[in-house]
Amino acid sequence: MSTAKKKSKRVTVPEITARKGGEPIVSLTAYTAPMAKILDPHVDLLLVGDTMGMVVYGMDSTLGVTLDMAINHGRAVVRGSEHACVIVDMPFGTYQESPQLAFRNAARIMVETGCSGIKIEGGTEMAETVVFLVERGIPVMGHVGLKPQSVNVAGGFRSQGRDALDAENILQDAKAIAKAGAFSVVVEAVVEDLATTITKAIDVPTIGIGGSAACDGQILVTEDAIGMFSDFTPKFVKQFAQIGDQIGRAVADYAVEVKARTFPAAEHCYGHKK
Ligand code: KIV
Repeated sequence: MSTAKKKSKRVTVPEITARKGGEPIVSLTAYTAPMAKILDPHVDLLLVGDTMGMVVYGMDSTLGVTLDMAINHGRAVVRGSEHACVIVDMPFGTYQESPQLAFRNAARIMVETGCSGIKIEGGTEMAETVVFLVERGIPVMGHVGLKPQSVNVAGGFRSQGRDALDAENILQDAKAIAKAGAFSVVVEAVVEDLATTITKAIDVPTIGIGGSAACDGQILVTEDAIGMFSDFTPKFVKQFAQIGDQIGRAVADYAVEVKARTFPAAEHCYGHKK
């Protein structure tokens, strides 16, 4: 009997970068092993986003997500997938202070989850950190435009780049992060033509979420895309299914059967040995 382990062929970070200008990169968020397993055959990249704070933990922003939460969910998603490139979001406060702190925490994420890289929010101010991480072996995905970890500075979750100065700043942010060595850049909630301009201006893939169809790839929060998160729905979300409604209907049927004592039926009950 062969003891050779089945070799998994995960999409690599260089393969994601090589998709610049090519076939669009299909990405979604995942936080758990069972969801990762369902999504894995259909996507190139799974992001263990800090949106877990809102979607899984019921927080009203992403700020309460801790490094341990990111690591535990990252590990689950790596376990539940074998094809997608898994990237883990660095939580607020785990990387902004210094490149050294960012490296320490990013290394923990990489070692303890087995993921392929990390994502950080920020533009020119984070370029030095991106260089520091990449030079030390940590692939970095950037994130510009709407930066949910800066919601308190921005005063809310608002679309970005609506005036010329703001648009220019976001373009410079994307260029700085790409030049620093990011392997791709998430562009969130910016006016459509800015997302297109950024995509043309940088030589690594842009992953749009509220960007433009011209981006090199797209990402959505899975629970938004399948109708499982109803607290609020940003303009950029398309619901491809209404799974939350389906769950509601299934559970209502279950409640009816429990109350009527029609569940469990004979086929769900154990008998004696014959
Ligand atoms: O945290 C997250 O899920 C993200 C995506 C929205 C890109 O950053």
